[in-house]
Amino acid sequence: MALLELQDVSKSYSGVLALQGVCLSVERGEVHALVGENGAGKSTLIKIVAGAIQADEGAVWVDGSKVRLHGPSHSQALGISVIHQELNLLPQMSVAENLFLAREPRRKVCRLLDWPRLRRMAREALATVGLSIDPATRVARLSIAEKQLVEIAKALTLDARIILMDEPSATLTERELGRLFRIIGDLKQRGVAVLYISHRLEEVFEIADRVTVIRDGQWIDTQPVDCLDRRSLIHRMVGREMEEEFPPRKARRGGELLRVDGLCVPGRVHDASFCVRSGEVVGLGGLVGAGRTELARAVFGADPRSAGRISIEGREARVASCAEAIRLGMALLTEDRKEQGLHLGRGIHQNISLVNLKELVSFGLLRLVEERRVAGRYVRELSIRTPSVTQQVRNLSGGNQQKVVLAKWLYSKARIFLFDEPTRGIDVGTKYEIYLLLNRLAEAGMGVMIISSELPELIGLCDRVLIMADGRIVGEVSGEGMTQEAIMELATSGRSRAVEAG
Ligand SMILES: Nc1ncnc2c1ncn2[C@@H]1O[C@H](COP(=O)(O)OP(=O)(O)OP(=O)(O)O)[C@@H](O)[C@H]1O
Ligand SMILES: [Mg+2]
Repeated sequence: MALLELQDVSKSYSGVLALQGVCLSVERGEVHALVGENGAGKSTLIKIVAGAIQADEGAVWVDGSKVRLHGPSHSQALGISVIHQELNLLPQMSVAENLFLAREPRRKVCRLLDWPRLRRMAREALATVGLSIDPATRVARLSIAEKQLVEIAKALTLDARIILMDEPSATLTERELGRLFRIIGDLKQRGVAVLYISHRLEEVFEIADRVTVIRDGQWIDTQPVDCLDRRSLIHRMVGREMEEEFPPRKARRGGELLRVDGLCVPGRVHDASFCVRSGEVVGLGGLVGAGRTELARAVFGADPRSAGRISIEGREARVASCAEAIRLGMALLTEDRKEQGLHLGRGIHQNISLVNLKELVSFGLLRLVEERRVAGRYVRELSIRTPSVTQQVRNLSGGNQQKVVLAKWLYSKARIFLFDEPTRGIDVGTKYEIYLLLNRLAEAGMGVMIISSELPELIGLCDRVLIMADGRIVGEVSGEGMTQEAIMELATSGRSRAVEAG
């Protein structure tokens, strides 16, 4: 008998049909992958089992009994634990408090919070995911990957028998991923049922026993992983054949657009030097915490640098603020779309026009029709799944929100693009469209720098890849030398190897 079973589950949001009669079962000790395009209904399904929302129709069975879930605490009491896609941590509270929210250890006298014990418990929980941060740190100060690991640690402390993981790996690099997979292996051994969502299909093949594909809210297929290959899985997801996952590169390298010399951010980035030429797509690889995001932010003026020169098209530039960076023709797509990239309460069209409003204003008035036309173009080009261009961004699925952030920067008038995890949470079909757009930027003479935790993406998309470790650029690979092994070796080397950039 399955530990978790869904029968004919349907859900619609004010007219948008998110799930239609979906059936799914997860056995004891099974890792069951759930895949499908952005907006297919995966998170909706997870939220129903988590008790966060209610299904309109259908039934959920847990361990043989039909249950009517009336809230997250009910679902938790039944032994269900969730890692949500949009991380649910409270930024102003400490890591320790977040881990044991509403379950904090208390002293017998006066029921006061037992801090020493909480701290010890938190340290143990963090150790399971390999994080060695101080439990008293406020969550707001963590990087997105660290937040993700805290969220995973939290789900594990609940000692659940069913764990739902909604893209737990979206920001993790190989090393953290390896740890997550070992954890999942242990859970399996203990008979826990794991429902696992990911857009990285190689993960599905590595850890899943069975895989279910949904498309447009409908069940398409459930198969043992051994009966599928990557190509047939993609076919089921996108509903058509996809020959290539990376478009061919045609751009020609031109002159130097961006040069960075000896850039330092105290405690984060040490003496980083590199350049990006017109027509180039340059990758930046490394492990979580290697300093890639910090480097990009400092180049963009989002964080102060203690040393280092930045030149744009051969001219030295101060770049002391983001506004100045934008004026100088730079764009930075940040990895944390919720915190830094989007106005969730605004429409898709308003988010896209944000950095390029000048283009849309004539005689002091915003041309509203034009604003919608522009948004409509990106909704088509990036296949953003939405009932209209004025839809509030908060109502979009995770991957579709990411596409709006991308559209916003693609619409800007930048010449130098810094993209931090641009395809995070985006499905394989749309990834191809995004790679095409990035190539088109390069062909038009722009310079592109991409931070990505997915090695195949760096290799398939970039002309060359710089690798960071411990805050330093420790190497560069290009052409035939761009292999996963070479990148990983440098990323874990720790020792800095001087590299001549450019
Ligand atoms: N609160 C909401 N209001 C209106 N529509 C919503 C709401 N939440 C989700 N939707 C819609 O329901 C559909 C399914 O969304 P869901 O988040 O389940 O997709 P998903 O498969 O998780 O996608 P992704 O891979 O991008 O995370 C989408 O079309 C989305 O726009
Ligand atoms: Mg989702």
